[in-house]
Amino acid sequence: MNRNNSDGFETLSWTGAGDGFLTLLDQTRLPNEVTFVNCDSVEDVWQAIKRLAVRGAPAIGIAAAYGVVLGARDEKMLGSGDSPKTAEQGCRAALAACDHLATSRPTAVNLFWALDRMRGVIATVGEEPSAGRVAERLLAEAVAIHEADRAQCAAIGRYGADLLETLGPTMGIVTHCNTGMLATGGDGTALAVLFALNERGMQPHVYADETRPLLQGARLTAWELMERGVHVTLICDSMAAPLLRDGKAQAVIVGADRITARGDTANKIGTYGLAVQAKHHGVPFYVAAPTTTFDLSITSGDEIPIEQRAPEEITEAFGRRTAPEGVEVDNPAFDVTPAELITAIITERGVIEPVSEEAVRAMVDPESTQ
Ligand code: MRU
Repeated sequence: MNRNNSDGFETLSWTGAGDGFLTLLDQTRLPNEVTFVNCDSVEDVWQAIKRLAVRGAPAIGIAAAYGVVLGARDEKMLGSGDSPKTAEQGCRAALAACDHLATSRPTAVNLFWALDRMRGVIATVGEEPSAGRVAERLLAEAVAIHEADRAQCAAIGRYGADLLETLGPTMGIVTHCNTGMLATGGDGTALAVLFALNERGMQPHVYADETRPLLQGARLTAWELMERGVHVTLICDSMAAPLLRDGKAQAVIVGADRITARGDTANKIGTYGLAVQAKHHGVPFYVAAPTTTFDLSITSGDEIPIEQRAPEEITEAFGRRTAPEGVEVDNPAFDVTPAELITAIITERGVIEPVSEEAVRAMVDPESTQ
């Protein structure tokens, strides 16, 4: 096992100064191999996001921010074959990098939020003496985004554990997809809550949905929870309903890729079904997400762009075809859970409960409600 920091492993790390490179833990190889990929061009980062080497809403945003640093010195971004040398060229290349990275995946708003932060810095660094200095300034912003996410994860963990510890010392909790260290710059969102409960001496029994079709639950969540000594049972997605019926879980907790102003929440496909099942069985359904995952420019979940992924993710498995050639496939990567099915949203600033547009705006953008 390759461990390179005190928390265990680094999902994302930057080596060097503005002329350095980004290293990503290649999540497509887990749990069988812990291998890392180095990115030293914008295209490397774009490909890593697209093929899910790095995934999870906050982690995608952080990776993209580092990608913009690479952009400030990437000759492909100028379109002329020249390497950026002046600050003006560095800024132009970095802006082109923002535009390109924005096309990698459409649903997680953290990507667009991080790129907007980087654009904000680009707008202020035109007077620097060189493209290299622009890259340095952009690196400082990317590191700030990364560090802030780490702190946000810790706060989500604390607020969430305060909320869930009332369920008793050995509560069963269902989760979906992967929302841990692999998905963020810190301990995670929903998984940070479970880690925090565990660290408080509670013994949550986590039921991890395998998460069809790409098995983030089986490959990543089960692995992370086992690494951190949390009791985990892996289940097929279709097992959650009978499990909730039988009273084996007292809560469901998931992450989010985009939350609208009224609280409608896009998350990994299967989340909506799980929320319906939780409602039916009277089990509270929690969403854990940093405020960077909210998109207050939209109100209804219908406005969230949902990524369609390749049909092969469903028609192939175990290295071979598992569906007839030519079959029609629908493969949305996310679905939207309406706010009325969500008991509470746990953020780094506190808990939104009950979920309403007024409560969301007051937590995420308090100035707008004053
Ligand atoms: O397609 P993925 O693996 O990027 O989807 C990830 C999820 O849906 C997560 O639940 C979400 O990003 C929250 S991560 C803290």
